[in-house]
Amino acid sequence: MRIDTNPIVRLEDYRPSDFLIDSVELDVRLHPTETRVIATLAMRPNPEGRPDAPLALDGDELNLKSVALNGRTLAGEEFEASPQALTIAQAPRQPFTLTIETEINPTTNTKLMGLYRSSGNYCTQCEAEGFRRITYFLDRPDVLSVYTTRIEAEGDDAPVLLGNGNPVESGTVDGSDRHYAVWHDPHPKPSYLFALVGGRLGRIAKNFTTMSGREVELAIYVEPGKEDRADYALDALERSMRWDERVFGREYDLDVFNIVAVSDFNMGAMENKGLNIFNDKYVLASPETATDMDYAHIEAIIAHEYFHNWTGNRVTCRDWFQLCLKEGLTVFRDQEFSSDERSRPVHRIAEVKTLRARQFLEDSSPLAHPVRPTQYREINNFYTATVYEKGAEIVRMLKTIIGDEDFRRGMDLYFDRCDGTAATVEDFLRAFADVTGRDLSHFARWYEQSGTPRVKVKGRYDPDAQTYRLDLAQSTSPTPGQVKKDAMAIPVALGLVMHDGSPSNGTCDRVDSRGVFLLDKPEDSIAFTGVTSLPVPSLFRGFSAPVKVSLDLPNEELLVLLRHDMDAFNRWQAAQTVAMRLLAALSTGAEVSDAEIDAFSAALASFMDRDACEDPAFAALVVTLPSEADIAQEIGRDVNPDTIHRARSEMRRRIGLSCANHLRRFYESLTDTGPYSPDAASAGRRSLRNASLDLLAAADPGVGEALAVQQLESAVNMTDRLASLSVLTTLPGEAREKAIARFGERYRNEPLVLDKWFTLQAAIPENGTLERIKGLMQHPAFSIANPNRVRALIGSFAMLNQVQFNRADGAGYRFLASIVLRTDELNPQLAARLLTAFSTWRMMENTRRSHAEEALRSIAQKPNLSRDVGDIVSRSLEESQGK
Ligand code: BES
Ligand code: ZN
Repeated sequence: MRIDTNPIVRLEDYRPSDFLIDSVELDVRLHPTETRVIATLAMRPNPEGRPDAPLALDGDELNLKSVALNGRTLAGEEFEASPQALTIAQAPRQPFTLTIETEINPTTNTKLMGLYRSSGNYCTQCEAEGFRRITYFLDRPDVLSVYTTRIEAEGDDAPVLLGNGNPVESGTVDGSDRHYAVWHDPHPKPSYLFALVGGRLGRIAKNFTTMSGREVELAIYVEPGKEDRADYALDALERSMRWDERVFGREYDLDVFNIVAVSDFNMGAMENKGLNIFNDKYVLASPETATDMDYAHIEAIIAHEYFHNWTGNRVTCRDWFQLCLKEGLTVFRDQEFSSDERSRPVHRIAEVKTLRARQFLEDSSPLAHPVRPTQYREINNFYTATVYEKGAEIVRMLKTIIGDEDFRRGMDLYFDRCDGTAATVEDFLRAFADVTGRDLSHFARWYEQSGTPRVKVKGRYDPDAQTYRLDLAQSTSPTPGQVKKDAMAIPVALGLVMHDGSPSNGTCDRVDSRGVFLLDKPEDSIAFTGVTSLPVPSLFRGFSAPVKVSLDLPNEELLVLLRHDMDAFNRWQAAQTVAMRLLAALSTGAEVSDAEIDAFSAALASFMDRDACEDPAFAALVVTLPSEADIAQEIGRDVNPDTIHRARSEMRRRIGLSCANHLRRFYESLTDTGPYSPDAASAGRRSLRNASLDLLAAADPGVGEALAVQQLESAVNMTDRLASLSVLTTLPGEAREKAIARFGERYRNEPLVLDKWFTLQAAIPENGTLERIKGLMQHPAFSIANPNRVRALIGSFAMLNQVQFNRADGAGYRFLASIVLRTDELNPQLAARLLTAFSTWRMMENTRRSHAEEALRSIAQKPNLSRDVGDIVSRSLEESQGK
């Protein structure tokens, strides 16, 4: 019989586990190549399971040493074992104890799932299905157990031993140079939240008193010597804990909270109970090595993983189809935190930029799927922008529709009801339906239907009747597996803006007290009465729903919003919409008059006159044009990245020229005084100053080069240094090459800084870049086994360098395909993520499209692909929409 190694898992097939595991005692003896794991499981049949089912435990590349039932070692014929499974056909119908001994090799574990080594330390990653690489288990999120972990290791090899929960006991092992530590986690949890760490690590710590007066010790462990680079992360942790108490009433529930930074990690970070493990890139920061953006990411990710303690850990997921229940909700929570800690409108714009760049792109690609998928072949491929970012938008829409107070009451009810359980999206929605008495079944479609709805809007003013009428129509294009689409419940936050900026005087009874109209039919019309002059509609304020909007308003009217809208998001949006119209037209060879470009530049200039100094961070966003990838997405078909690149460069040049005086003034006045601080206001000034430099360089490369070289020499922080190097990379020549070489030399012992250096070079939109990248792969700091290095050099080439990745000769595609195949042998998750760069292939013009298809097919026909890569490549090639 041929075993299907690629079975499809379906939501509709969910059934409860046949057995439960009440407690787990793990005895782990760490050894570089022969780690022994003895698991003692207190088990019983699940009353909700099938009465005569065999006991089937999951494994992955495991080596079984022995298995005992109630203390009696089982003979070979009493069980069946393979690296993937351990099955006992006749398991007891009463509670029993199963003792399993396995041996694993952390050194050869290059997948970075399960127990592995990073810089000589031991660490684990178990989400989603990594625990089964440590011991045989019911490795599914609805099996919750209380864990006690004993970790033993050579004292010199691993002086620090950490586990989930609270420390219980530690000591030396008599007659040896080994020592041990015992950890106990009283909160039942699924296996994906298990973690342990052993190694030589430096530590910083601080005490925290929770709102009810409990004492908690917070600690961060890093590579020895880098302790001071963890200060900002520790501060962010403390602020996150305070915020969750204040905003959601949620308190921490153990005596210690530990974070460990490791340098080999597939993701950003992981929320293991009481023992978060982080990619060191999201912990370590100093003004010399980290940019303002790095600081912001550290703050957000520290918060995100901490917030999982309630949304993910205390209330976990019934199955992996419910992933958005923890991830979408937790992203929403970390976004709210960052908005409160920084500038809300600026943060909102950043969120929407990522949503559009990643999620809208995914939704229009062959990889489109619902926020709650209904089937998967490899769950690792569903940690997507759709589950995360669109999942967060759904929570935000819910809050917009029901209001702040009911939202908080609904969250409280959800926590009350579901604490200690493995829940579903239905449980979540039910809490809000119950506190509000609303029927949320229509709203629930957001979890089920994939694709980005498009809302077409027409406005009509009747001066005689003094009414303004809006006709709205929604539609969603087909996506894989879903041809027919239903109307969604779309909250439209809106208002009218008068040309002279005077307060709007119209009213509309379909708009609620919070300014929201709910569009829940395919078409609808609303009318404002008492409108005394022609208004401009401001729609989807704050980006109130994840939709695309088509609005037939001339540029001049849109630019009224940039000037007068009370909603900062829509002021930014207005400028972006106009810029996008011009860029898309220029890119596709459509007629664009100089007058149109001049009018836009003039609007930007007068914006700078009036508002830029009030909020530099916001101003920097307004003067930054949509990216080349954004423009490609807007064009949507027969894309030629070369014409897009030329159009965008030309626009930057024109804006740089016509706004030169303002830009000069910003560049000169917004210099830092005093020591570096990563706070949002200081970061905002740096970002406007550096955006000004970029436009000045676009207008006059000579001036730009001189300014950038000077800034690179005199910069006292990484933000300014990197920004100037980035401007230089757009200016071919000797100065650039010299600057690149010096930067590489200066930071040769700083891997995280070299990553930025790799990324900048990989993004150079010139023909030599592919050769440059191949050369950098020989750099002593580069390693194909380290995900951060690979993503910095090769991932950013594929994601950021539109022109060179999508070369007309196909060399960019062939290069990426070769790297995908190479990394797949070491680390399938990394390979599969790189491969998603191909998801845009169908929107390219013919020549490029056929080169991309050929590269994809060359991957697909390769034998022994991982499930991760096999899944992505086959969905990417699938014959379009619906089946
Ligand atoms: N639970 C995830 C980490 C994870 C993802 C583990 C996929 C296994 C597979 C964690 O909470 C997470 O979401 N991390 C994000 C960062 C976050 C700020 C969105 C990440 O790692 O990118
Ligand atoms: Zn998460």
